[in-house]
Amino acid sequence: MERIFINQIKNHIGEEILLKGWVDTRRDHGKLIFIDLRDKSGLVQVVFLPTNKIYEDAKNLRNEWVIELKGKVNKRPEGMQNSKIENGDLEIEAVDLVILNSSEALPIDISDNGYDIGEEHRLKYRYLDLRRSRLQRNLRKRHEVILFMRNYLDKNGFVEIETPILTKSTPEGARDYVVPSRLHHGKFYALPQSPQQYKQLLMVSGFERYFQIARCFRDEDTRGDRQPEFTQLDIEMSFPTQEQILNLIEDLYLNLMETLFPEKKLTFRPFPRLTYKEVMEKYQSDKPDLRENKNDPNEMAFAFIVDFPMFEWKETEKRWDAVHHPFTKAQNPLNLSDEEFKKYLEENPDKILAHQYDFVCNGYEIGGGSIREHNPKILQKVFEIMGNKTESIQEKFGHMLQAFQYGVPPHGGIAMGIDRFIMILMNEPSIREVIAFPKTGDGRDLMMNAPSEIDEYQLKELGIEIKKS
Ligand code: AMO
Repeated sequence: MERIFINQIKNHIGEEILLKGWVDTRRDHGKLIFIDLRDKSGLVQVVFLPTNKIYEDAKNLRNEWVIELKGKVNKRPEGMQNSKIENGDLEIEAVDLVILNSSEALPIDISDNGYDIGEEHRLKYRYLDLRRSRLQRNLRKRHEVILFMRNYLDKNGFVEIETPILTKSTPEGARDYVVPSRLHHGKFYALPQSPQQYKQLLMVSGFERYFQIARCFRDEDTRGDRQPEFTQLDIEMSFPTQEQILNLIEDLYLNLMETLFPEKKLTFRPFPRLTYKEVMEKYQSDKPDLRENKNDPNEMAFAFIVDFPMFEWKETEKRWDAVHHPFTKAQNPLNLSDEEFKKYLEENPDKILAHQYDFVCNGYEIGGGSIREHNPKILQKVFEIMGNKTESIQEKFGHMLQAFQYGVPPHGGIAMGIDRFIMILMNEPSIREVIAFPKTGDGRDLMMNAPSEIDEYQLKELGIEIKKS
């Protein structure tokens, strides 16, 4: 007999079926033994009658044991039905039982939402924590969201291309994670803070419409809405206007919400485009929470913030830095020539606006992007304004400046934080609740015990000596 999943049993009333899964709970009611059986698709009540040959075996069952169960699908008698729970009108009358595996008592309770359990405990036993129905739901919804994004972009002529994880530093404003090279002692790869440079180079290559579900790595202090490694929906287009990019994202998110989350209420449609100046004046924040009712868990207020300043003054480093990243195109409303504009940039870094936009929702920044500067002369000037010396520009960005000499199309793009978006959708207080194996606030994986020391011979191969303090 072939196994079926619990969400299929309603199609087999009166028939004998085979189920496999975990004992979710077990109850003795006088002579009858009840268990709730759980598989990836749902939960159903099973009853063992004392007349059955497997009754004695059933007595031994404990929570989280793994079993194979043959049984008959019965309608529960009138009065015993419970419309509030899944399969509350059905019951499996056990016919045969095979115990596939037993389980020790679990070190954490997985029967409720788990918010009260210390995070150290939950993350140490994350593989059990993930059995919790809340987290199962979060990760399955996450899968649906990503699948929807992929299919939508595919239908719109975008191609998914993977870019390297072992690479060189690309500035997104955080510290890099670095990986030592065995073959080149003293040299390091950096893990990408984003695929920014690669996706722009793919525009030089002529792909025109790129996307990637991209893993990004940033060594920054972790907060509820930040993880050292996280996932972006990364997009780049050739020949776009800013409005085309915003329209694409708006249409994608509207379609996604309608299809996957019809119960949600959108404050705005279309999504408003508000300027940075206007929101800073009105809300003192560049990611304002624009919901009408902040207590409504189903309300979502999407908006785009546009016209960010190009540069900000970094007092600690005594230099101008790019608000977004240096590849962003500065606005040139007076249509100055290249030479005039370079001079203008140099003299007015505080006044320049950028072709930059953020995508915000309920007080969070869930995306950001820009039209890029594809003129190598202006780009070089931007690097200079940020305090880079000619030599270091060549060292860090020479490949970009060179690539832009060979017929680079005007291009631009955006990257959406997937974890943050799912966190808001699922009304979770932290992105850790929507990532399968997240890190603690201080960047540790408690289950794998990472980061950890490495063997002496590995250090030697890498040409690294550790100074013990
Ligand atoms: P940006 O740095 O704004 O842009 O990142 C885009 C989006 O990624 C999410 N995000 C994070 N999510 C979780 N943890 C983090 N540590 C974290 N950091 C960022 C946010 C943010 O809006 N390359 C550019 C995009 C572009 O210009 O096309 C970039 O990465 O939701």
